Amino acid sequence: MSTSEQKKIFVTRRIPPEGQKLLSQADSYNVKQWDSDEPIPRDELIKGVVGAHGLLCLLSDKIDQEVLDAAGPNLKVVSTLSVGFDHLCVEEIKKRGIRVSNTPNVSTEATAELTVALLLTTCRRLPEAIEEVKNGGWKTWSPMWLCGAGLSNSTVGIIGLGRIGLAVARRLVPFGVKRFLYTDFQEIPDNAKEINAEYVSNDKIAEDSDFVIVNCCLTPETEGLCNKDFFRRMKKTAILINTSRGPVVNQEDLHDALTSGQIAAAGLDVTTPEPIPTDHPLLSLKNCVILPHIGSATLDARNAMSVLTVNNLLKGLAGEPMPCEVKL
Ligand code: DGY
Repeated sequence: MSTSEQKKIFVTRRIPPEGQKLLSQADSYNVKQWDSDEPIPRDELIKGVVGAHGLLCLLSDKIDQEVLDAAGPNLKVVSTLSVGFDHLCVEEIKKRGIRVSNTPNVSTEATAELTVALLLTTCRRLPEAIEEVKNGGWKTWSPMWLCGAGLSNSTVGIIGLGRIGLAVARRLVPFGVKRFLYTDFQEIPDNAKEINAEYVSNDKIAEDSDFVIVNCCLTPETEGLCNKDFFRRMKKTAILINTSRGPVVNQEDLHDALTSGQIAAAGLDVTTPEPIPTDHPLLSLKNCVILPHIGSATLDARNAMSVLTVNNLLKGLAGEPMPCEVKL
């Protein structure tokens, strides 16, 4: 078949090896790829997507009306290599009858591990401690030096008790957490039962938790949920962890809360924007630990995500059920 008869797939980045291998076997398609580990520039995305039937994108690619218009009426499937799909303009995609898929499940354990790692790193002040060893600040053993907060007997509040929230809570049980609270769009009794979690309001989660962990998806309802009012309600000793999406937390309000002693510390794997500018005020705070969105960054998880993304795309283009189709 000549390339003019083949359906076109446009891929916005090099993807992990296992998915890349699968893609290279899709020889009945005309696959075009932005062959780089760097994000595709916007103008290249607009050019590359023209006439595509399938689009494989990443969470750093904003798929909006302009991109959809550039793609034109051929476009049938958008397959994102991520669980979150807040970078896709879902309303417009739905209007055009385009199918969407994502990669849930395969990165749950990796993201939950990273969340617990970030929680322990933040509450036991590990970056500060490592820095003190390197800069000669370690003079002697000292009773109160670098004391942090422990998880044993604590109350943990989870915002979003879905797959990842539950996987985080499961890992925290052996640390001796006394009480789990959660909020979500609605009660999730099966998940809550497993860890004996109470469904509470946002106010209550802020007021009662020693550690608040954000694992929800970004929607208009959750955007800015952790704001001035939320921080004002939190305990002065409490710690906030966010491994979902940056905009769930109002960063200006967080900065105020961290510098005024309203809350003790924060650990963020996600920020607004990403990457966070190196001169951002949050980066100068000792009580704020920031990671570069590495929740799912294990080799296994990233390979599995890439395979699932390609499988979703190929099934969608064949008009078959996709392993993980997002219900729009
Ligand atoms: C996702 O999948 O949405 C994460 O944020 C990156 O793995």
